[in-house]
Amino acid sequence: MKESPSKKAEILAVAGGTLLSWYDANKRDLPWRGSNDPYAIWVSEILLQQTTVAAVLDRYPKFLERFPNIETLAAASEEEVLAELQGLGYYRRFRAMRRAALEIVEGGGGKLPEDVAAWKALPGIGDYTAGAIVSIAFNQAHAAVDGNVVRVLTRLLALPGIHESLAAKRKLGEEVLTMMPAGCASRFNQALFDLGATVCVPKDPRCETCPIRSSCLARTKNEVHLYPERPIKKAMVDVKVAVALIEENGSFLMTRRAAKESRMPGFRELPEIWVMDENEPRDQLHRLLAERFNGRVAIGDELAEARHTITHHRLFCTLYSCQLAVSSQPGGEWVNPANLDEVPTSTITKKLLRRLASEL
Ligand code: ADE
Repeated sequence: MKESPSKKAEILAVAGGTLLSWYDANKRDLPWRGSNDPYAIWVSEILLQQTTVAAVLDRYPKFLERFPNIETLAAASEEEVLAELQGLGYYRRFRAMRRAALEIVEGGGGKLPEDVAAWKALPGIGDYTAGAIVSIAFNQAHAAVDGNVVRVLTRLLALPGIHESLAAKRKLGEEVLTMMPAGCASRFNQALFDLGATVCVPKDPRCETCPIRSSCLARTKNEVHLYPERPIKKAMVDVKVAVALIEENGSFLMTRRAAKESRMPGFRELPEIWVMDENEPRDQLHRLLAERFNGRVAIGDELAEARHTITHHRLFCTLYSCQLAVSSQPGGEWVNPANLDEVPTSTITKKLLRRLASEL
């Protein structure tokens, strides 16, 4: 049975008030709370994109120590910013954040915008992030619909359908605004995040302790497990990755990923090749090195193995000891492993070198 618009609005308003009181008594103590500095809040929202709160907790204060304001971030090189945030993944967001800082300093005299449309015009800022920043920093009544909020709302209203598109999230944003007590946008959006992260969790939600359980339509129907509906997942594909260790005087030959790569652009990595189907990893690696460095190549022993997953690819990585006889290495760069933390380095390379160090 579909709820009438007025019944739905009533459910939302009652649940909204209850949720806010719950938040005031139960909010998580997180390092970005307690400040309404838009720079600090912007940084927290960028670090939290696609990343768990646990992974961000100790990186966030370190980042703010290194880049305490928009001017220090705008003055930093892309490499310095990426090196500080190594390991968090999805690096395009950090490059965009630095570019946005440059735009704000060069074009706006360093004053961060207060207007949601001005935020959305900056690199790397979409509906969600803009809504989160202006609601949390300036208490403006905007929704910030992330995965947590989709889960809470689709359960609360027993909403069928997939809610991953921008249009679907905008529609849910309207429900959030109906639910939001007047003048409480900052606390309320954070209340939704906390409920989704600690109570209305994806698996085995803790409905018994949920402050808005009596309003929850999915729970009334005993159908919490049906929401949110999920798109069909792509099947996992196994891939062998052959990686070359070419050593000279204690340094390793690395290349730099192109700036246009969607994954880890600009990062250093040991030369690697993804081997599909039944192809022989050694042959493929041999061909790659011969073509890339234009010289004589020998592929030696296997030195280390590591596994890594990227979206629906399960990577089985093998590090080979390789020799290369050329007079120069165009596009290559010798990196001393002791300096690895100072240059943004791909995760596969780091995993293999760590494995190698522990096996030596
Ligand atoms: N996830 C995204 N933004 C968040 C925030 N400000 N607090 C807690 N979790 C979040």
